[in-house]
Amino acid sequence: MLAVDKGNGDYLYRQVIDLIAENIETGTLKPGDRLPSLRRMSKRIGVSVPTVRQAYVELERQRRVESRPQSGFYVRGVKLNDIVRPAPRFRRNAKPSLVRGRSLMDRVYEGLYQPGVVPLGIANPCMARPAAKALNRAMKRVMSRAEDRSLAYAPTIGEPGLRRQIAFRQLDTLGSRVDPDDICITNGAQEALLLALRCVAQKGDVIAVESPTYHGLLELIDSLGMLAIEVETCPEEGVMLDALRKTLDTHPVRVCMFSTTLCNPLGVSMPEEKRRELAEIIDQRDIVLIEDDVYGELLFDGHRPKPVEAYSRSGRVMTCGSFSKTAAPGYRIGWLLSGQYRDKVNRLKRSYSCSSGLLQQLTLAEFMAGGDYDRYLKSLRPVLQTNAERMRGLVAEHFPRQTRTSKPVGGSVLWVELPESVDSEELFEAAISAGISIAPGSIFSPCRRYRNFARLSFGHQWSDDIDAAVGWLGKKVRQMQ
Ligand SMILES: Cc1ncc(COP(=O)(O)O)c(C=O)c1O
Repeated sequence: MLAVDKGNGDYLYRQVIDLIAENIETGTLKPGDRLPSLRRMSKRIGVSVPTVRQAYVELERQRRVESRPQSGFYVRGVKLNDIVRPAPRFRRNAKPSLVRGRSLMDRVYEGLYQPGVVPLGIANPCMARPAAKALNRAMKRVMSRAEDRSLAYAPTIGEPGLRRQIAFRQLDTLGSRVDPDDICITNGAQEALLLALRCVAQKGDVIAVESPTYHGLLELIDSLGMLAIEVETCPEEGVMLDALRKTLDTHPVRVCMFSTTLCNPLGVSMPEEKRRELAEIIDQRDIVLIEDDVYGELLFDGHRPKPVEAYSRSGRVMTCGSFSKTAAPGYRIGWLLSGQYRDKVNRLKRSYSCSSGLLQQLTLAEFMAGGDYDRYLKSLRPVLQTNAERMRGLVAEHFPRQTRTSKPVGGSVLWVELPESVDSEELFEAAISAGISIAPGSIFSPCRRYRNFARLSFGHQWSDDIDAAVGWLGKKVRQMQ
C-alpha cells in the first residue's frame, strides 16, 4: 500500500502526497484517522523526515488533513466534490448562433484590472511561479549584445532565432518536424487564432467550438461576423466525436476550433486514439481544424501529447501556440504553425500588425536556447498541481455539497458546477463588489448556457487572500441557493 518510486523522476514529497490522498480517496484512511508519525512514515517508505513533513504540511494546506498540537496529523472529514458531468441539458438540436453576452465579457475584463482585486477570473498559469528573474537576465544579455537592433522592427513572420527554437522544441518534445518558415510569430495566441480563422473562413461561416469553450475565441468569432455552433464535450476526453459527426452531418461547418490538450475551462486532454480519429474526420470532410495548443506544455505530468496536426494527412490543420501561459503573458508573443496556408497567413500578419515585438522575441529565444525555459516549466508544473489540489480542497470545504468540480490534469483553472438554482452572473456581480473576480460560466458558451457554472483560476502565488476569497464565494453560494 505504501511505496514510493525514487527512480520515476517525480518529486518525492509529491509521491507521498499522492500515496496518502489515494488512501483517503479509497477509504483506507478514514476521517479522524491519525497519519503515521513523521519518523514512522519516513522509515516505512524510505524517505527523509523533512520530505514527509513537507507532504503533510501540503496536505494540510489542501484541507485533506489537520494538525493537532502535540498529537500529530489527522484525516479531515472533507470529501472532495464529484466531477462535473458532461454538459447538462445539452440541446441536441443546437443551431449555429451569434455570440451573445458581450457586455458581460466587458464587465469580466474590467473586474480583472480593478485595483486590489483577487483575480480568480483570469487564466494565468505562469503567474503561479513567475519567471521574472530569469527572463530579465535574458533580456539584459540580449540588450547588451543587440543594442540598436533590439529597437528595430522584427521580420513580419518573426525573428528567425525564435522560430528555430520553437521548431526545435516541437522536435524535442513531440518528435514533430516543423519547417521554421512555416511558423509565423504573432501577438499572442489570440492573433494566431485570428489569422488562422481569417485565412480559411468568412463572414457568415459556421465555426464549430467545444462546449464550454474559451470566451476569447467566441469574441473573435463574433467580431468577424461568423456563427458559432457548440459541440458537446465530456470531462474525460474533451470534445465528443460522435456529437461532432452529427453536427457536421447537419450543419455547414467550415472550421472546427478545438483545444485538444487542456481545453479551457474543462482542463481535459483528448486521448491519443481520439486525436487520430479527429484527424480522420477532418481529412475525410472538407473542413479545417484550428487547434489551440496554448496549454500543451502544462500537463502536470510533463507529458506533451501530439497535436492533431501530427496525425492529419490532408494538412488542413493549423496549430496555435503561445508563451503567454508558459513564460510571460505581457510579452504578447505567440505563434501559428501555418503549413500549407503559409503565404496567406504571412500576408494577413503583415496587413494586421506588421510584426511582433523584437526585444521580446530575442529574449524568449535566449531563454529557450540556454535551457532556462525547460527548467522553468519543470518547476512550474508541480506548483500548478499543488494549487489545483488546494483549490479543489477549498471548494469542497466551503461550497454546498452538491457542487461539482473538474479534475484538471494540467493548466490553471477549475470548472465548478454550482447548485442549479445559483446564477453565476449574479455571483460574479456580488464577488466583484467584494473585490474578487471570477469568470461566470455563461461567457464560455455562445448562447449563454452554463449559468450555474463558474471558472476559478489557481494560477497564482498562493496567499491567504485566496483562501479567504474562496471561503467568501462558498458562503455566498450557500446564501444564494
Ligand atoms: C485557450 C486559450 N487560447 C488562447 C488564449 C489567448 O492567449 P494569448 O494571451 O497568447 O493571446 C487564451 C488565453 O486565456 C486561452 O485560454
